[in-house]
Amino acid sequence: MSKGLFITFEGIDGCGKSTQLELLKEDFRKEGLDFIEVREPGGTAVGEKIRNILLDRQNDSMTRMAELLLFEAARAQITEEVIIPALMSGKHVICDRFYDSTSAYQGYANKMGRDLTDFLNVKATSGVSPDLTFLLDIDPKTACDRRTGRGGEEDRIELMGLSYQEKVREGYIELSREEDKRIRVIDATMTREKIYSEIRKQVWDLMS
Ligand code: TMP
Repeated sequence: MSKGLFITFEGIDGCGKSTQLELLKEDFRKEGLDFIEVREPGGTAVGEKIRNILLDRQNDSMTRMAELLLFEAARAQITEEVIIPALMSGKHVICDRFYDSTSAYQGYANKMGRDLTDFLNVKATSGVSPDLTFLLDIDPKTACDRRTGRGGEEDRIELMGLSYQEKVREGYIELSREEDKRIRVIDATMTREKIYSEIRKQVWDLMS
């Protein structure tokens, strides 16, 4: 049995990755492909509890190190409990965020340092890496307007504001330069149809 494909979606908050992930899932279903969808942080019973702690706006005293370790704890859980078994059984895995988020948010924007985040990312994932990553690139102001349009309260990380999101975006762009084969940058200001047609093409190219 061949191993499934591991596809991740990344970008700053409000970049539109959930919409694209839905479109890809719809296509996978239509084609009868065997896959699972997961999200980070979360995706397991333990991980969803950690997610609540991480995003709770009342936890404004959380230190940067505590934050980093909680993201990695959730990642360690989902990788061992869900992602590795699925890939090994031949299922494709579509994941909303993975370790690139930690590199961009904690490593770059929070200045925890890439040496530390790279080390913890490898530990938490046992070295499992996505086959393909879509980075939906958008300026923070447009992304923020989209989030506001969706309504709902901002979570602890969204509350950090536009300059923080700008740093995260820079971090992502740097990552995409380092790993230009795996990370495909997509202009997320295009229409959702145009964005998806690029994503679909690249996924199908990889599968064929
Ligand atoms: P979501 O809103 O896309 O579900 O992601 C939750 C938030 O957590 C989002 O603001 C990005 C942030 N995050 C990190 O800061 N580091 C990480 O490693 C992950 C996975 C998410």
